[in-house]
Amino acid sequence: MIEHDFIPERYSVLIDEGKTTWRSPSNIALVKYWGKKENQIPANPSISFTLDACATTTSVSFKKRDHFDEGFSFELFFEGKEKEDFKPKINTFFKRVEKYVPFIKEFHFTIETSNSFPHSSGIASSASGMSALALCLMDIEKKLRPETTQDFFNKKASFLARLGSGSACRSIEGDLVQWGNHKETDGSSDLYGIKYPYQVHEVFKNYHDTILLVDKGQKQVSSTVGHDLMHNHPFAENRFAQAHENLTKLKSVFKAGNLYEFIKIVESEALTLHAMMMMSDPYFLLMKPNTLEIINKIWAFREASGSNVCFTLDAGANVHVLYPEKEKTEVYQFIKDELVVYCENGQYLCDRIGYGANKL
Ligand code: PMV
Repeated sequence: MIEHDFIPERYSVLIDEGKTTWRSPSNIALVKYWGKKENQIPANPSISFTLDACATTTSVSFKKRDHFDEGFSFELFFEGKEKEDFKPKINTFFKRVEKYVPFIKEFHFTIETSNSFPHSSGIASSASGMSALALCLMDIEKKLRPETTQDFFNKKASFLARLGSGSACRSIEGDLVQWGNHKETDGSSDLYGIKYPYQVHEVFKNYHDTILLVDKGQKQVSSTVGHDLMHNHPFAENRFAQAHENLTKLKSVFKAGNLYEFIKIVESEALTLHAMMMMSDPYFLLMKPNTLEIINKIWAFREASGSNVCFTLDAGANVHVLYPEKEKTEVYQFIKDELVVYCENGQYLCDRIGYGANKL
């Protein structure tokens, strides 16, 4: 599909008001998206586990406006309270998606949103938040165009979510989602995420992700700035090529359930992401001393026990501890005994691989 396919022709149904609610999860990348072109077109393909517990629930009530010649009309409530400072972000999102969902000018929206995880946890809510909002818009579009197929609905929801925040496009479906053109993945696209189309071994079902909250503060460098620093980055081209290669390697790893190779790719991706940050101009560092303590403890535990636990990082200091279902008892005990001490106020979130967003 091409961008033009997402611009609708005239809608077949007219409605005056209604309400829709969606719950959409966060996701954690195994091969990282870092570096982009205009409109969140990724510089390299990525793949993620869709999460389950970390999610945003968003309701959108809509009512036809009498006049809709000037800007967008909406109110925004976050966890029950009106939130003025979130409004510019939504306004920018609406501007970016207007061409694809032109009905948004015609309605007044009341957006009510909340997260399942604490706001101050340092967990980015942009993936779950933008995908939940994109799904609500698609649901309204479906009411105006009832012939919309499920496949088109998912692709366009992912397409819209991408315009809000790149990685949000991987939060529509589960349990593994790939985004970005990769010549060895049929159907892959820079425009939207697709459900991973190849065989995945049983060992990856119910995979666990325990998120250790190392630093709950505001990040010093936003991911927008970080992505931007990949332009003219001396190692950018090699990094982008490496992401393609890692996706190719993962194909046989997923099929065979080869956890040894899986760990090598996933941990290398996490460290490469942070190495790119450290080699940017200006350089920056998002890991904290406790991030490194945790990584070393995981390596020591794996060495001593033969466990398949591993880590990944997103653009921050928190550590995602990944492990298969059949090791959950031992690894969870290890986390409690040895890792929680490095978390801010001992806080962590237990999550696992999930199956995508739901309409409530
Ligand atoms: O979607 P953004 O612009 O917040 O970028 C996300 C980047 C990483 O989380 C670091 C990697 C990824 O693929 O999710």
